[in-house]
Amino acid sequence: MSLFYRTLLRPAVFLQDSERAHSRVLAVLSKMSRTRFSLSMLGALYRSPDLPVNVFDIDFPNPIGVAAGMDKNGEAVPSWQSIGYGFCEIGGVTLHEQPGNPKPRMFRINKEKALINRMGFNNIGANALQEQLQFWKDKGLWPDSPVGINLGKSKVTPLEEAPSDYSGSIKILWNHADFFVINVSSPNTPGLRDLQESKNLDSIIKNCCQINKQKSVEKGTSEKPLLVKIAPELGDGFLEDIVKLVKKYKLSGIVATNTTIQRPKTKHKSSEKVYQEKGGLSGAPLKDQSTEMIRKIFKITNGKVPIIGVGGILTADDAWEKIKAGASILQLYTGLVFEGPDIAKSIVKGLKRRIESEGFESIAEAVGIEA
Ligand code: FNR
Repeated sequence: MSLFYRTLLRPAVFLQDSERAHSRVLAVLSKMSRTRFSLSMLGALYRSPDLPVNVFDIDFPNPIGVAAGMDKNGEAVPSWQSIGYGFCEIGGVTLHEQPGNPKPRMFRINKEKALINRMGFNNIGANALQEQLQFWKDKGLWPDSPVGINLGKSKVTPLEEAPSDYSGSIKILWNHADFFVINVSSPNTPGLRDLQESKNLDSIIKNCCQINKQKSVEKGTSEKPLLVKIAPELGDGFLEDIVKLVKKYKLSGIVATNTTIQRPKTKHKSSEKVYQEKGGLSGAPLKDQSTEMIRKIFKITNGKVPIIGVGGILTADDAWEKIKAGASILQLYTGLVFEGPDIAKSIVKGLKRRIESEGFESIAEAVGIEA
């Protein structure tokens, strides 16, 4: 972590309410996204060295991505690459615009390097996101690195109509995504996690695949990779069912994991108090649980299904652990809040050192070696 962030910026940011601080930082990045000059200034400070990896036929300049939730409305798409990320996942977006849950709904737990959130998919909706992403393209500011889109279910849509809600967003946003993530694991939309059950998920995936195929025929190009994002608490039976669906529909991968509704033990009274807030916990306390889920998926799929590993990555060691457990590429959210804007660059540099010191030629060679 840079001295500047630790001593000056972070204390100032942490004086503010968590969501307000996030919105302000995003507003700055959004502004800086608008000109090549400011993007190149950011790049000069934070751009990562190359550490290329190819997963589901997409080239990623490095394996560290921005996790869903960070840039729900695509406000800062051009900037992520400039601050070192190899890809970003925009959203969660829902078919219908929605305000999310009442505030406050995001809480920092400084002593644990963790966040609790119950945002509830606050977002501008698929149509407005489409316009925002088109805006970046029209301005010639679309990044060279891949852009994924995370899909949630609109709160107004009953669970039984979830398939058309997810696939409706794909239809609107198809041109703009390098890959889509079907998110059935956020804990903050009532009933959403029930969609991880096989019969529910089957019809959602089926519908999304149909639209994906239809769009690819219409455009005369190949289908977009579709992935599914799961919860860290998913039981073995449910996980095996999801893996069966991934194989049945030839999905491109699994994103593991979303936030947890569990609360670990803590010796800090102040943390205990925040742990009582409802919502999903992310950051350091989630790290091992998510790594174990990655290991489990790698084992039961014999390493044949690519995994995007996410949950509690704050350092290069955390990232390396997840790669060795079976993740092909990685994402982070909470780490950026606690470690600052040079986190991606510092992790990519650290990964490069580890690859060299352990005698590998590439990230891909290290995936799953300790699964
Ligand atoms: C999230 N996350 C998330 N995930 C998702 O699939 N769709 C979403 O809309 C959101 N929204 C969201 C908002 C906030 C405020 C947070 C903190 C997180 C989950 C996120 O993508 C990631 O899976 C977890 O946060 C775990 O990673 P970190 O934060 O420990 O690196």
